[in-house]
Amino acid sequence: MSDWQDVAPAADLAEGAYVSKEIDGIRIAVFRVDGALYAIEDVCTHDGGRLTGGPRIGCRVICPRHGAAFDLATGAVLAPPAYSPIATFPVQIAADWIQIQIPDSF
Ligand code: FES
Repeated sequence: MSDWQDVAPAADLAEGAYVSKEIDGIRIAVFRVDGALYAIEDVCTHDGGRLTGGPRIGCRVICPRHGAAFDLATGAVLAPPAYSPIATFPVQIAADWIQIQIPDSF
């Protein structure tokens, strides 16, 4: 596992919001839902669309392109046309910064 990497100041991510950022060439999104943080790869496994910008209901995020749905906590597919899960990453707040860990093998 790699070192923790800064994403954004924790104070910049309001409840219900997300931040999307490229880290090491990977498009990452971190959502704050009911006070908890969830980090995913911001890429739909159906056809590569960004998941941010689409609807979100609780931990269910819906791709704005064709409507596939995923669980932010587990990455599992909740609705087609995607059939492969999205990647999720460990996330924490340290020294007032949101940080994620991207596996070395990713
Ligand atoms: S690119 Fe996300 S459902 Fe098609």
